[in-house]
Amino acid sequence: MEIDVFTLFPEWFEWFAAQRHVANALAAGSTLSCISYREHSPLSGAQVDDMPFGGGAGMVLRVDVVESALRARYGVDPVQLPRRRRVIALAPGGRTLDDALVDELAAEPALTLLSGRYEGFDERVVEHFCSDVLSIGRYVLSGGELAAMVVCDAVLRKLPGALGDDRSAVEESFSAALEGNPEYPQYTRPAEHRGWRVPEILLSGHHARIGQWRLARSRERGQRASAEQPPRPPGEH
Ligand code: ADE
Repeated sequence: MEIDVFTLFPEWFEWFAAQRHVANALAAGSTLSCISYREHSPLSGAQVDDMPFGGGAGMVLRVDVVESALRARYGVDPVQLPRRRRVIALAPGGRTLDDALVDELAAEPALTLLSGRYEGFDERVVEHFCSDVLSIGRYVLSGGELAAMVVCDAVLRKLPGALGDDRSAVEESFSAALEGNPEYPQYTRPAEHRGWRVPEILLSGHHARIGQWRLARSRERGQRASAEQPPRPPGEH
């Protein structure tokens, strides 16, 4: 998997890329490259943003700056890019990331992630250069960098070799093996702490019964989580 992140803060990703599971995925053949909008700005003073037309607070990332960074990276007019690869703008109003979308992205050979800053992107970036708009949740971050890291983390850990044990990604929260439910509770040593005992079944060595117990706990958690989810206003998904 080849991941390109466009950002105003490429140095933030140095720490991220050094983390064990990310470093493992990169050692196994994936790439994570950061491209600075500022470095490719065609404007004087390496300007990247501007005031919104129509007024309002904050600054908007300019379409000409994003175009120049994309052109420098791919050597084509960026309007052609979405036909060739997923180009994903990170913004709070996009499709919300979930395990199914992570699986979909993990199956791609290449991803381009565009972080926004301030008040986000000039809308023409999204309209003309992007295949998707993706949100990591219904709250506003001060920029897309952390969202880009969340996407990279969730996607890279799905790739073979990223985790110490590939089984970890098969039977985990929201996986098909758990019928899309959260993972069952896990315990480790000591078997008793302050009188709190680990469920006996887990110490029994009966793998089939342990499997049934885990599936039942996972289903319970799923039911509880959907009961706690507030209803969405009409028209939202
Ligand atoms: N940029 C700012 N807030 C965001 C969010 N919630 N998800 C993705 N990108 C963002």
